[in-house]
Order: sequence, then C-alpha cells, then structure tokens
Amino acid sequence: MAKKRILTGIRPTGRLHIGHLVGQIALTKSLQDEFDVFEMIADTQALTDNFHDPKKVHDHVLEVAIDVLAGGIDPEKSTIFVQSHIPAIPEMTVYFSNLVTIARLMRNPTVKTEIAQKKEVFGEGGVTFGFLGYPVSQAADITAFDADLVPAGDDQAPIIEQAREIVRKFNSIYGPTLKEPEHRMSAIPRLPGLDGNQKMGKSLGNGIFLADSLEEMSKKVMQGKTDPEKIHKDSPGNPDICTVFLYHSHFSGEAAPTIATECRKGERGCVQCKRELITHMDSFLAPLREKRDYFAARPDFVMDVLKEGTQKANAVANEVLERVRTNMHLRYFH
Ligand code: TRP
Repeated sequence: MAKKRILTGIRPTGRLHIGHLVGQIALTKSLQDEFDVFEMIADTQALTDNFHDPKKVHDHVLEVAIDVLAGGIDPEKSTIFVQSHIPAIPEMTVYFSNLVTIARLMRNPTVKTEIAQKKEVFGEGGVTFGFLGYPVSQAADITAFDADLVPAGDDQAPIIEQAREIVRKFNSIYGPTLKEPEHRMSAIPRLPGLDGNQKMGKSLGNGIFLADSLEEMSKKVMQGKTDPEKIHKDSPGNPDICTVFLYHSHFSGEAAPTIATECRKGERGCVQCKRELITHMDSFLAPLREKRDYFAARPDFVMDVLKEGTQKANAVANEVLERVRTNMHLRYFH
C-alpha cells in the first residue's frame, strides 16, 4: 500500500529558530519513515508580506534548506522543494478562490491578527489581495499533494481548517477530487521567546537560531526572563511563571522536576539555573550546528537537493492538477 502523505511548509523570511526545530521540524522528522513527506519552502507565500524585498526571500531559500537538512529532514526519504516552481499551486489557487468569500477570509483569526501586526507592510491602502488570499493558496499547497497530514504550529489551525472547508466545497460541486487534510500539532506547538514574549522571531530579537554560535546562544539565555519576585539567589521562586524553567522542561529532560523543586525551595539561583540550561540546550543544538556547518559548506549539494525535490514534487502536483481540470470540465483538446 502506498504511504500516506505529509505536506508542510516554511516561509523563507529568516533562519530557522529553535521553535521550528523542536516543533514542526522535529515532528516531521519523526514521521518521515511512516509517511511520504513533502517539505515545502514557501517562497511564494513569503512574498505576500515581503513583496518589497524579493532578495531577502531569495537568499533565505538556501538558508532555510540548510536548516531543514540540519534539523534532520533526510532528502533520501523526504522531498524538499521550492513552492514558486510548482505551477499547479497557483493554478489551483485561482480555481479555489471562487469558493471563498472575502468575508470568510477576513474572519480567519490568524489572518486577522497578522493583518493587524503588518500594518506598516501594507501602508495606507490596507491589506493586499495576495496576503488576504494566502489561506487559499495554502489550501492549494496542501491539496496539490493529496496530503493526509499537515504538521504545523498552533497558529496554522485556522488556515488548515479553511483548507478543509475549501476541499469540502470543491468536492461537493465538482465531485470527489481532493483529499481533506488533517492538522497535526507537535508536542511543543509554540516555544515562547526567552524574554517571555509569546512569539519567537527575528524581528522581535528574541529568537535562538540554529545558526547561532554557543556564545550567541548563551548570551540570549543569560538574558532570559525569570520569576521577577525571586530577587536573591536563595529566595524561593515560582518555576510556573519562569521562561527559563519552561525551557528546562523542554531541554533538560529528567533534570527538570528537580530543578523546579529546588527553585521553589530557594535552593538554586537563577544564574546557576541559566548556566545549566545552556549546557542542556547545547547538547541538543551542538550536533545540529555541526550538521548545519556541513551543509552550509556545500551549497551546490543543497541546491541539487532542492532541484531534484522540485522535479519530484511537480510530478505529484501535476497529477492532482489533471484530476482537478478533468472534474472541472476544463478539458478541450486531446
Ligand atoms: N503558513 C505557514 C507558516 O507561516 C507556512 C506554510 C505555507 C505552510 N504553506 C504551508 C504550512 C502548507 C503548512 C502547510 O508557517
């Protein structure tokens, strides 16, 4: 029996941070034996809010590919490809756009939040047609690969829900054609910044990147936010409100419960606690950093992986597109 398929995507607007690595990438990596994985570098989608900076998007395609490979997505098992080189996606986007109202797009909570955050990108004229419509094109990304499963963060839930709606509508009008995908959240769907900000990102200056050196990473951890009421080394703290402890719970394994107990009793200072976190995080990050250096030194190899992946992805997406065209009666010539 053919394996079930996974499609997931990453926008190439910055290097990958540890939130991606412990989230979407870790989950996708853990599923790449069981599933046929399609890992898409979503450059077209990245342009929806970076249309003014195509160079940035271009340059990050390679950077993100390097990070994805270092994160353990294995090109022998999985297909890594570039979105803008899959013509079936924009074509399907056009057909899907007839099935979605502007009002429904405006109600999408993720889109709504992002529009509010990106006011300066769009300027006085307001949100663009392209950005408002990105859930429609994301529905095409997913369905063009007959994906069964979409590993993605919690912010992607409304987008994937909308893709499911589009599939149901499409199938009800044109007959059973497309697969309804399921969203799979990773064990850590969102890693907040060490500064306590709910989101981690380059623009927020609170991201820890795979490409960071041990020194850069250490510096960021040492600035991490702890319980503000724990003023002295030996005053009791509350790990439940401490972002440094939250990181311990993800990176320090079996040591985490003892760390929490000691913190509550006032038996450990925050500086020592942060130093220990650096050690634990480094044992996770050091091997990845080494792999990153390996691929970064071989850009031609990485570009070949993308080229081959894109060819393979086109073969799959074109088959689905044929089905779409046939069922939409878009067939005139034989
Ligand atoms: N919107 C996703 C993000 O910002 C990236 C993405 C594009 C994606 N196409 C996708 C994710 C398809 C999952 C499936 O992170």
